[in-house]
Amino acid sequence: MTSPLKSLIYDDDRYQKCLDHFLERSSEQQCLRDFIRNTLPDILASVGKGKSQLNVIGVGSGEGIVDLELLSQLCQKHPGVLVDNEVVDPSSQRLNDYKAMVAQRPDLEHITFTWNKMTDSEFEEQWRQKNITKKADFIHMLHMLYYVKDPGATISFFQSLLDKNGKLLIALSSGESGKGKLWGNFRNTEVTQRVTTADIKSLLDARGVPYQSYEFQAHTDITECFTEGDQTGELLLDLLTQVLDFSGTASPELRQRVLRLLRDPQCSVETGGRVLFNGNTEVIVLDALS
Ligand SMILES: C[S@@+](CC[C@H](N)C(=O)[O-])C[C@H]1O[C@@H](n2cnc3c(N)ncnc32)[C@H](O)[C@@H]1O
Repeated sequence: MTSPLKSLIYDDDRYQKCLDHFLERSSEQQCLRDFIRNTLPDILASVGKGKSQLNVIGVGSGEGIVDLELLSQLCQKHPGVLVDNEVVDPSSQRLNDYKAMVAQRPDLEHITFTWNKMTDSEFEEQWRQKNITKKADFIHMLHMLYYVKDPGATISFFQSLLDKNGKLLIALSSGESGKGKLWGNFRNTEVTQRVTTADIKSLLDARGVPYQSYEFQAHTDITECFTEGDQTGELLLDLLTQVLDFSGTASPELRQRVLRLLRDPQCSVETGGRVLFNGNTEVIVLDALS
């Protein structure tokens, strides 16, 4: 295996820029929000039944836009409850954006926010060191397991924190998405490797852990990737390959192979002169360990 190119996640400013450009051109976040509004309420109905306080943990919450949607659905399902919300994310930039948004929302006064500027594994270490026995009713990890060292261990730890009737929600690109095809095709090359829900489901199946899954279709307009030197295209390419400055650091041969695959029907459809990349996303829901 060739030595990996530098992973995008280590440059937080560039990562944020790439993510902003990607989300502007993508229906992924909207589809996730539709899922949260239309399907999640039924899943949340049994969470924390009869309790006056619900404990929530958001892992990799980012700037909190999706978190607040989740919290809003949880509170609508359980009117009048207090919510203790632990937020875990290593990016100070994104946590500050989250805090600023909360500060402008007086309607969230029944939610207590605890800010943990750290990775999932640092949070786990802190939890163990402080011998915390609190149980969680709802834990979510949306589009973050790509970045953890050992997704299986992360899932095991957070699932072990669930109280009876608790739910753990995971969202990632599906194995059938363009990202799944791209990462799968470039396994064992210097393109950064990321997990998809296909990996997570095989892992859960191998362990005999039951789960429910929901897949929805989304797409991202990646047309600019095919115009050499286009700034947006370069940022999108970094996000898709998860490589920092992919065009500047990958060999021309690797760049060409990646571009060819991005345009291939496995990954994209072309319509009206635009290249629409398959952004199918899957949500996996786990119950508390019995
Ligand atoms: C793609 S964003 C997703 C943000 C949000 N959950 C959403 O769906 O909009 C991924 C987030 O995971 C965070 N992250 C990266 N590595 C992490 C880790 N090891 N533990 C916790 N969060 C992590 C990043 O800082 C980033 O905010």
